[in-house]
Amino acid sequence: MAFLELINTRQSVRKYSLKPVEPEKLQRCLEAARMAPSASNSQPWRFIVVQEEPLRTEVAKATFSGAVKFNKFTMQAPALVVMLLEKPRMLNRIAMLLKKKEWKLIDIGIAAEHLCLQAAEDGLGTCMMGWFNEHEIKKALNIPSDKTVGLVISLGYAEEGYPLRKKIRKPVEEVVSYETFKAR
Ligand SMILES: Cc1cc2nc3c(=O)[nH]c(=O)nc-3n(C[C@H](O)[C@H](O)[C@H](O)COP(=O)(O)O)c2cc1C
Repeated sequence: MAFLELINTRQSVRKYSLKPVEPEKLQRCLEAARMAPSASNSQPWRFIVVQEEPLRTEVAKATFSGAVKFNKFTMQAPALVVMLLEKPRMLNRIAMLLKKKEWKLIDIGIAAEHLCLQAAEDGLGTCMMGWFNEHEIKKALNIPSDKTVGLVISLGYAEEGYPLRKKIRKPVEEVVSYETFKAR
């Protein structure tokens, strides 16, 4: 697939078929994520792939609760990838403090998109989720307290007939300017 075509093919998938993810496709997604760039090559991530019951359902349930129903589709997803943020090395922590930037969040965002793009290339659907109960996920997966759950990504084949939606994005003139900042 041409790269821009791949970009347009990737979309958040919120309805999954029961078909499991082939291990070689899963491996490619993880490899794509692992090879992502990061500040000082710190690679501040860990990936926990959750496919087995009852853990898969426990993690799925931790992405919605009470009135918040929008992540309920996770119950159908055959795999959930929990992305952990590791504490960056001391040098990175100092640099982030000095520059008042959270590079580690940028780092896992890039890795997450690598994973999702590779999935799209292999005909799989994904949805990144920032809304979840961190405490419940950490408890279920035995995650040490010094790690943070950064994102949960659902992974699987989209339900048959799932439409490729038009991407709603701000127009280019609203988000791009050349040479200097241009007030809108
Ligand atoms: C950091 C982050 C957190 C997100 N959290 C959620 C979420 O909790 N639930 C959900 O359904 N979608 C979530 N999304 C998906 C966005 O809603 C989606 O990417 C956006 O609407 C653009 O649509 P598209 O992915 O289909 O292009 C998240 C995306 C990102 C990047």
